[in-house]
Amino acid sequence: MTQYANATTQKENGTVLGGKLIREGGLVAFPTETVYGLGANGLDGEAVRRIFEAKGRPGDNPLILHVAKKNYVKRLWAHVPESARVLMDTFWPGPLTIVFNKSSLVPDEVTAGLPTVAIRMPDHKTALALIREAGVPIAAPSANTSGRPSPTSAQHVREDMDGKIDLIIDGGPCRYGLESTVLTLAGEPTILRPGAVTREMLEAAWGAIRLAPSILAPMKAGETAASPGMKYRHYAPECEVLVARGDPRAASGKICRAYDRRVLSGENAVIFATTQTQPFYRDRRCVIIGDRAEPATLCANLFARLREYSDAADVVFAEALPEEGMGLAYMNRLLRAAGFRTID
Ligand code: TXA
Ligand code: MG
Repeated sequence: MTQYANATTQKENGTVLGGKLIREGGLVAFPTETVYGLGANGLDGEAVRRIFEAKGRPGDNPLILHVAKKNYVKRLWAHVPESARVLMDTFWPGPLTIVFNKSSLVPDEVTAGLPTVAIRMPDHKTALALIREAGVPIAAPSANTSGRPSPTSAQHVREDMDGKIDLIIDGGPCRYGLESTVLTLAGEPTILRPGAVTREMLEAAWGAIRLAPSILAPMKAGETAASPGMKYRHYAPECEVLVARGDPRAASGKICRAYDRRVLSGENAVIFATTQTQPFYRDRRCVIIGDRAEPATLCANLFARLREYSDAADVVFAEALPEEGMGLAYMNRLLRAAGFRTID
């Protein structure tokens, strides 16, 4: 049976019970500033295996360890490189995950056998309280069924995990709505997954940072993944998703033409519009997902809207954003949800 706790209204907010369940080897879903996580004791290989079962996650896709204190990384990494020190001081707590060579304390179940481990310190008081109560680092992927859009509310977690895990702690909607930036410092500093800590922010704090090629393109057959997560179909709703590139006028023009064709042939279509482009779509079926001038607003809504229209539409049309700042993270998730299909 899955228990529920509400971190926003209950004084005893679930973190005490959650910490106890985690110490006992259980699974607890909890809010973070990015998306909801599905947590287990990160030092207990047996408990970590249960995460993979509940999500239906491929066994070769490693997990992130969540800590409540920066200093704890000393125990989990072989050593702490200078670059990590600078980046942790600048961005932790926050949506930045750092990958580096692991220590012997980290079980192979967490890293899927890799010699490196991913660590982050979330910027969310419930998440931090839960880690402190548990007294161990918490291994946690996003709390969705593998392949579905990541959950940005407790209701999304419930849809995917009810009956499969021990506790869901409801902390309301997530601030960013997209998962953390994943940066590896094992080798040349490289962003494996873009997020709210942008390439521009990382470069200002440290220096040149590469982008993994798979961020905006599908992996080629035979290519090895720097981050195993990039091999898999991700964020995939049931419906078709199509992306239109170009400036707002051009993109919305393409969407209008494609939308009209689909609707004429009897399909149920919806457009993810923005405050700037909504007038171009006239009386077509639209939902505003944000303001193009503030990509963070689109990021915050993307997964929730994909879940909402997954069954409620046959096809979703969405505009591309410039691939800079948080626009890069948005395009990374949107293109994956679309299976890289565009209407150019
Ligand atoms: O915001 C987030 O990061 C959320 C919240 C819950 O913290 N977590 C999350 O976890 O998104 P998950 O498991 O859905 O994504 C982790 C990503 C995957 O793409 C995985 O392949 C990559 O991080 N990863 C984990 N360990 C790695 C490692 N040692 N080397 C390279 N990539 C790694
Ligand atoms: Mg995930």
